[in-house]
Amino acid sequence: MSAGEDAGFLRLTLVEVRPETHDVKTFVFRPEGGVPAYEAGQSMTLRLTLDGETLFRTFSLASAPGRGDTIAMTIKAHAPGRATRWLHETLKVGDSIEGGSPRGRFTIASRQTERLALVSAGSGASPLMAMLRHLADTALESDIAWLHGARTPADMLFPGELAGLQRRMPNLRVAMVASRPEPGWFGFTGRLSRRLVSVALPDLGRREVFCCGPAGFMDEARLIHAAEGGRRELFHVEHFGAIAAPAPIAVAADAPAAGFAIRFGDKRFTARADETLLEAATRQAIVIPCGCASGMCGTCRVSLVEGEVAMQHNGGISLEEEAERYILACSSRPCSNVTIAL
Ligand code: FES
Repeated sequence: MSAGEDAGFLRLTLVEVRPETHDVKTFVFRPEGGVPAYEAGQSMTLRLTLDGETLFRTFSLASAPGRGDTIAMTIKAHAPGRATRWLHETLKVGDSIEGGSPRGRFTIASRQTERLALVSAGSGASPLMAMLRHLADTALESDIAWLHGARTPADMLFPGELAGLQRRMPNLRVAMVASRPEPGWFGFTGRLSRRLVSVALPDLGRREVFCCGPAGFMDEARLIHAAEGGRRELFHVEHFGAIAAPAPIAVAADAPAAGFAIRFGDKRFTARADETLLEAATRQAIVIPCGCASGMCGTCRVSLVEGEVAMQHNGGISLEEEAERYILACSSRPCSNVTIAL
């Protein structure tokens, strides 16, 4: 089986596009051969071919597992983002793209308590909506606080669906926060702060938090959770590309200029000593599932079968996993010829 097949790429046919806000749409896809198993909160890497160039981009699944034969992704069109603009402007119902196997450890299945806070900003609401939809399907009585921040009321995601879920879920509390409120807005206003939390989500410190949004937002939420007495292991974050890439590692003076031979399934490629395994693989159109590309999310975890790497990451892998010779491809540079496996 090839590395690409290992990554489990599926053909996805676009069956519906739902505008959510002026720059966010939900794309509903029908995977050929059926919906792959996934957990609420996980993400999928799309393989897109734009003008002859292959791009890989990872997006959270917004749909709840076990609902029909489709999956959905709620995606914001980022002005400088070629892939998101192509999805918004060019992809049409009936077109097909490819998606990898759902991955990621930011899932509601990993929760340790039943008292939850789903905290998001902007399109970070997407994986949290998957969690909430799943809880609505499987645990209607769940104790959930939903806090969502957006620039203006018109930028809020899923307000109608949340209102409907509130009617069905007796223990769901919803707080919507506009940083730039408009006349007629009666929800919360301002940016995330301890003061805001004291009125919008006063028991944050006693909840297990799943948080997704820009890096500064997640950092602030983490600090507030800790200041309110929240335990560190009960705070989970997800964001793609929110943080800086891991610090570069010094390259050994005797590293071969031609690079090292890398073996990944039945694929062979070369990686220079100054690039990560992920960068080298992507340059040669070989797929290693990837999320943040910053050593934080753990999506690119692979097994180091043979060889040595230098790894510098941002917490996306545990000491136990490292002891079992797992590495993060986005944060590891080769120090010898290397064999890796999914
Ligand atoms: S892609 Fe997130 S840790 Fe490597």
